[in-house]
Amino acid sequence: MVRLGDRAKQTSTRRELWQSQIDNKAEKLLDLIRRHPGQRFPKEKLAQKLSLDESEIASAVEVLESWGYSIGSGSGWLSFGRAPDSLLSTELSYKLKTKCFGQQLHTYYQVKSTNTVASGLANDGAPEGTLVIAEKQTRGRGRLGKHWHSPAGVGAYLSLILRPKIKASEAPALSLVSAIALAEAIRKVTDLPATLKWPNDVLIKGRKVAGILTELNADQERVNYVIVGMGLNLNNTNDDFPEELRGAATSLRLALRRKVDRIKLIQCFLTLFEGHYRRFCSGGFVRLRQRALKLSALLNQEVTIRGAAQAGKKSANIQGLVVDIDDNGRLLVETSRGRLALICGEVSVAGLQRRSKR
Ligand code: BTN
Repeated sequence: MVRLGDRAKQTSTRRELWQSQIDNKAEKLLDLIRRHPGQRFPKEKLAQKLSLDESEIASAVEVLESWGYSIGSGSGWLSFGRAPDSLLSTELSYKLKTKCFGQQLHTYYQVKSTNTVASGLANDGAPEGTLVIAEKQTRGRGRLGKHWHSPAGVGAYLSLILRPKIKASEAPALSLVSAIALAEAIRKVTDLPATLKWPNDVLIKGRKVAGILTELNADQERVNYVIVGMGLNLNNTNDDFPEELRGAATSLRLALRRKVDRIKLIQCFLTLFEGHYRRFCSGGFVRLRQRALKLSALLNQEVTIRGAAQAGKKSANIQGLVVDIDDNGRLLVETSRGRLALICGEVSVAGLQRRSKR
């Protein structure tokens, strides 16, 4: 990982033409001209307004172009053309409506794992809502020690630092809270029928479009921080998935047959998650339970669950019928041994892909 600068809004790179450093002049110019795309701004006036000279304006334009922005120019004027399809801090911050989530932003082209970077920042005291996001991960971590395939430019790999004042035993529900927000964001931005596969996955028509890895740092009963890490398949084509994932995974692009605006989706998710997180912290999971039930892909399904765990009990592999999600976010499963309230487990549903409906 290459780290440059020491500001909240931080970017690092291993790729040329990436937003490799903070450039205040370029950012100020961008802020001004992007408000009126296509409008021709006289360079002289821009220079006056931004207290820059014309050569500084020219080098700011060069910086913006090196980040992938298209800037039109002619003799004496310039105009905003297009923003690049990149997870740049300038894009993620632009019109982000949250109060806290993503306001402290660490963007990278490539890291081993955003969860690892976020844990380091959290240990150094980074505040709640700090977001770490990368275009590519070389060692993306999934649940149960699995690898998370993280190709560049098509997905989003992000980790949020949370510091909830809750008991450690309540923290696993945060996966479900984030999954609700993501499924709702997908529905809002794309109108696709996103559903939840308790406790950590978001599906489209039975195929996985996102996975969540929540990591907890706690002393005794007190939570120091929680990292909610999310891997999103957004603009992946079939070729972006390894052969073995093609049947089980999908992307928003594959489902929609067109590309999605990654920034818009991430911003929508951050806004919804911030609201749901506040509800969860003030009133518990019960405040989100109806949403979880409405979005659940598992209700009334016969399931097999590997590593099914009840609080304080050894995990086991079980089979049964999913009947509910309770006020604490536990999955209630009717089995031959009675009704179990599960706090975690890896659920499989035979035929979920065929049966899934909006
Ligand atoms: C799963 O197994 O379904 C969970 C996958 C979580 C992957 C995300 S990508 C961003 C964050 N960083 C990681 O290393 N893992 C999570």
